[in-house]
Amino acid sequence: MTTAETLRELLACPRCDAPLASSGATRRCGGCEVDFPSVAQIPWLFAEPNAALGEWRGRLHFSLQRLERDRQRVAAALGAAQLRATTRARLESLEHATRDHGVRLRTLLAPLGLEQHSAAYETYLALRTRLPADQGLTTYYSNIHRDWCWGGAENDASFEALADAMQGETPNRALVLGAGAGRLAYDLHARTTVNITVALDFNPLLALVADAVARGRNVELYEFPIAPRGEPAVLRTLAAPAAARPGLFFVLADAHRPPFRHGGFDAVVTPWLIDILPERFDVLCARINALLGDGGRWLNFGSLSFHDPDPAARYGLDECRAALEEHGFADIRVDERDIPYLSSPASRHARRERIVSWSARKQRDIKKVPRHHALPEWIVRGADAVPLDDAFRSQAAATRIQAFLMSMIDGRRSIKDMAKLVVEQRLMTAEEAEPALRSFFIKMYDDSRRGTSY
Ligand SMILES: C[S@@+](CC[C@H](N)C(=O)[O-])C[C@H]1O[C@@H](n2cnc3c(N)ncnc32)[C@H](O)[C@@H]1O
Repeated sequence: MTTAETLRELLACPRCDAPLASSGATRRCGGCEVDFPSVAQIPWLFAEPNAALGEWRGRLHFSLQRLERDRQRVAAALGAAQLRATTRARLESLEHATRDHGVRLRTLLAPLGLEQHSAAYETYLALRTRLPADQGLTTYYSNIHRDWCWGGAENDASFEALADAMQGETPNRALVLGAGAGRLAYDLHARTTVNITVALDFNPLLALVADAVARGRNVELYEFPIAPRGEPAVLRTLAAPAAARPGLFFVLADAHRPPFRHGGFDAVVTPWLIDILPERFDVLCARINALLGDGGRWLNFGSLSFHDPDPAARYGLDECRAALEEHGFADIRVDERDIPYLSSPASRHARRERIVSWSARKQRDIKKVPRHHALPEWIVRGADAVPLDDAFRSQAAATRIQAFLMSMIDGRRSIKDMAKLVVEQRLMTAEEAEPALRSFFIKMYDDSRRGTSY
């Protein structure tokens, strides 16, 4: 069986788990009557493929428009009469890089079909669609440069942590969940005898770069260092040591709805993922159990920094171990070590992280967890009434007040003038109005001055 045939056998519908039929670059679930396209040859296996495409197009538009705003701001700063020569040089370099970066992003992400979507910057700000605000197109942008340019020591340290967790036992079919810019999946494939490595992420920018460099192409993108040591933007050539041998595949999908058949892998790797997923760790244990065949191993590494709103769900290592045992895992081996993290030579900012890694062997199947639903039906289908619960009621009231405050900005009124109007409208008492308006405008002022960070 070729590696492409093995991949075909591993894939399943993210909506109903049935096998998929392939026709060219499109896969189809006959039962759900849904076609799953490919984007730049990468299977696009989101449960709602068109909605996901729309969301990522929206994110890309938003990023491009924000970039253009940043560029205009730099251009405006360059127009000032009195600038030091060094300041002018820095701003010119930044303005050029920001413009060029927009062009490069647009070209790289053209396979998303960008022209099919256009809305104003403000509309994106207001709508903030489903992808969590902290998981945008450029959230893990620095990983691209670490993975494929300057991160040799970090990439080696990550691979060593993974190799130690494997304890000399190479899997046949490995899945890397939340693979990001793809270096660890690439190294696993290049530096071991694994037959199939599937690297899944939901971020098309990361996956497109990873796929291109793993095929042996060079990609040029700017790095914008957090604390520049020299230039504010550095054009990097991203490249893999060599094109990957057959059997390394990238897949665009949601880790909550992994589009794979039950028990298809003998290793699932989760690098820096488990604590950023909004689902509870116990649910993730059950999902990973279902992806592994008997005796397969879950190889995890990264931090344990759970953010669940429920403090009881922010597990420490002992609680993770107990959850693993409850969800069908045994022979759990844990390691902790320090590694360098995102130490760009172009930046004065760098981190060291104490990572936890474990290897846990699947001992038994457990009860299947329900399919993940990111959104309720009244949003997805759009046919049911929007529920008017307490949270929505108070958000709606707050938004009306905000809209009223914004509508008073006319370039003439002062905070004191506006406070009077707020009191007349009986929205606040005279004592509350002025301090509340001042806090409101401080936030708006800060937001309007916040720069973009890549
Ligand atoms: C902290 S980064 C780690 C990236 C990579 N594993 C590494 O070590 O460099 C987390 C990754 O998980 C991806 N991710 C987050 N939520 C996801 C989801 N629901 N489905 C798929 N990927 C997800 C992000 O796009 C990002 O690439």
